[in-house]
Amino acid sequence: MRVLETVRELHALADAERAAGRRIALVPTMGALHAGHLALCELARGRADRVWVSIFVNPAQFDDADDLARYPRPLASDLARCRAAGVDAVFAPPVSEIYPPGSQTFVEVTELARDLCGASRPGHFRGVCTVVLKLFTIVGPDLAYFGQKDAQQAIILRKMVDDLNVPVELRVCPTIRESDGLALSSRNQYLNAEERRRAIVLIESLRAARDRIVAGERDGTVIREMLAERIRKTPGAALDYAAVVSAETLQPLERLEGKVLLAVAVRLGPARLIDNLLLQVSDASAEETSL
Ligand code: PAF
Repeated sequence: MRVLETVRELHALADAERAAGRRIALVPTMGALHAGHLALCELARGRADRVWVSIFVNPAQFDDADDLARYPRPLASDLARCRAAGVDAVFAPPVSEIYPPGSQTFVEVTELARDLCGASRPGHFRGVCTVVLKLFTIVGPDLAYFGQKDAQQAIILRKMVDDLNVPVELRVCPTIRESDGLALSSRNQYLNAEERRRAIVLIESLRAARDRIVAGERDGTVIREMLAERIRKTPGAALDYAAVVSAETLQPLERLEGKVLLAVAVRLGPARLIDNLLLQVSDASAEETSL
């Protein structure tokens, strides 16, 4: 497995792979890799000749300096995991390589980034879009893999790729969960034992809302209130948002129809956790679907 730190090296390797006719799949990450990231690599392996992982804790997407400072950076174990997963190359650049002094260009998807996580984390998606577009222009991957846990991120990145005609196929893969349903996240390690027990309120509230929709409820306000109330009742959990929105526009739905995103963000102690479920809803039926 190659480990690269500079844009120049990565660019050269990408050129060589392309010249040899090989398809590259990129899995962008911020490290602290868990089974969710490895599942993305595995899916990528099935569709590409080369699987590359980027590991970069992107300062531009943090709106809180403490959050950035304490974000886990276990590079040695991340590299070991990538090696064991058969990853072909890891790009782990220093900040100065991605944002050389004087950098002043950012990419912004405006409307889709306004609400949900965009409202509580100003500038977050601008940072995500900027770094992901940079990775795309450096590598020129055929495919790029993201997890559905960050549904708003995936929807925004699809829009960016579409609006800017970036020649990459974006694949969004199912959320990987612990046995009790908690979505895997690098931030779960911030939770103490009590907070960890309480964290299942995210998926429990989402599943209860899903079941209510499957049973016939179509009023978005009822579902939104149901989600919020269950989280508010959980000791130690502070609701950031409970949203019932169109998966296309991310705008609230009064009447549920089409592709519906149920999404929650909750603060538990030092961690801010997010999760979501996606449903395809019509008058007659509702079932879980994917992005
Ligand atoms: O989802 C993440 O880990 C990050 O937002 C990403 C896509 C790697 C960009 O820094």
